[in-house]
Amino acid sequence: MFSRRFFLSSIGCIPFSSALSQVISDKKLNYGSKVVDGILQYDMVAKNGYREIVNGVKSQVIEYHISGQPKNMPFPVIRAKVNQKIRIVVKNEMDKTTTVHWHGIRIDNKMDGVPYLTQEPIKSGETYVYEFVCPDAGTFWFHSHQNSLEQMSRGQVGVLIVEEEDINNPAIKQFSADAVWVAKDYYIDDKGELTNCTTKKTAMTSGAFGMQKRVNGKEKSILRAPAGSWVRVRLLNCDNTRLMNISAYDEQDNKVEAFVIAIEGNPLKKYKLLNRDDLTPGQRLEIAIKVPKSGFVAIKNVFQKNPYILGVVMSNGDSVNEKALLPLPMGKIPEPDLKNAKRLRFIFLASSASMGRFWSINGKSMVEHSSPEDHKLTHNSLSCTKGMKNEDMPIKMNNQKMAEPLAVLEKNKSYIFYIQNGTPHTHPVHLHGFSFKVLKSNRYKINPYYTDTYPLKPDERVQIAFLADNVGCWMFHCHIMEHSSTGMMGYIKVI
Ligand code: C2O
Ligand code: CU
Repeated sequence: MFSRRFFLSSIGCIPFSSALSQVISDKKLNYGSKVVDGILQYDMVAKNGYREIVNGVKSQVIEYHISGQPKNMPFPVIRAKVNQKIRIVVKNEMDKTTTVHWHGIRIDNKMDGVPYLTQEPIKSGETYVYEFVCPDAGTFWFHSHQNSLEQMSRGQVGVLIVEEEDINNPAIKQFSADAVWVAKDYYIDDKGELTNCTTKKTAMTSGAFGMQKRVNGKEKSILRAPAGSWVRVRLLNCDNTRLMNISAYDEQDNKVEAFVIAIEGNPLKKYKLLNRDDLTPGQRLEIAIKVPKSGFVAIKNVFQKNPYILGVVMSNGDSVNEKALLPLPMGKIPEPDLKNAKRLRFIFLASSASMGRFWSINGKSMVEHSSPEDHKLTHNSLSCTKGMKNEDMPIKMNNQKMAEPLAVLEKNKSYIFYIQNGTPHTHPVHLHGFSFKVLKSNRYKINPYYTDTYPLKPDERVQIAFLADNVGCWMFHCHIMEHSSTGMMGYIKVI
């Protein structure tokens, strides 16, 4: 059993990210932002660097950094207001090309960050300007969408918090703290040496795991706030591979009540009890936790046989009067017209094609589009495919071989996607540019809700619906990076 003494004695030797999580949580400060030509701007570099992930050694990482944000943050946090235009000026200081994708934002297609499909890659040394409006309040993130298996496995992710319009709304003001906890493991061994983020075998199964499990770059996060108050924890799974189920426990390892208030940035009409909730790669859970008078509430990943703590919430010594939890104000996702919706089928399968294409959607295996110059650089020191034979490598294609869309949709028509998993693995299914409504599954009774990433379980069949109100080419793929980069990827085109 997990005793309080064990927990406290472990504080001494485990690097907690207390001060750091306070910085990341401080919602009053838009660290690093400035206003240029009337637009909130962040200057960001994408670069190789070093970070202490295991004690006493600096390991190689690939990260984003926003000027003006503390260097000890393993990822940047961008804050914007709903319906506010923001500008992110990205400088590529790496030797490979890259793009930045803004996961979950219902964005203008030109700003979606997919190489060749929506933009030219950002070459080494070049700068690219992203400028867009965030139409929904909530928890979003961003990551590399080119050479992404490698760049993301080494750390290249960031958080995008979109704040609600009315910060005086009691449902927003009710939280005494607003924390960001990013679960992201590192492909680093106990000596600090890089390990592979893919092999042929892992790409064909559940994917490779990073040996160092981390939250905000540390082993755990800790949040302190007045006893009796509600805190808002934004928990993001920015990992390449790891499937999670999230529950809350006290220090005696008894389950305690905590509530899911939003999924993938979309507030729930009625908050729900946190109980083994899915948090697969790409997903975000916003959790309301009441700060206990004594002891702590531990948020754990209970997916595996050996659950482990991602972060804890405890009192900072103060206490306040307890109040009932209020649900967040609802978002404004357009409602699909289910009666007149067109139905389309998508089946996620293993691929019979060889040459590094292990997965498919509707029998097609799109793979990453890459710049010709990147092909020459594949086995550099940061490569996560060292020692792999060429034919087993995640295939990359360049401009000339752009795949056909999986489906062409008509603007402002509603669609129901019938999605089927024909594999024994879980696939977090992500659609760019839309929040879709989950209607039905053959596995559970669904209380319809909006999301941008659905954790499709083995042999599951699910129905999702959305209004195709945004024109462009939108990626549709599994968010286990080894699956998407070996064929479980495609796109739809809205015209
Ligand atoms: Cu976060 Cu194309 O994905
Ligand atoms: Cu998958």
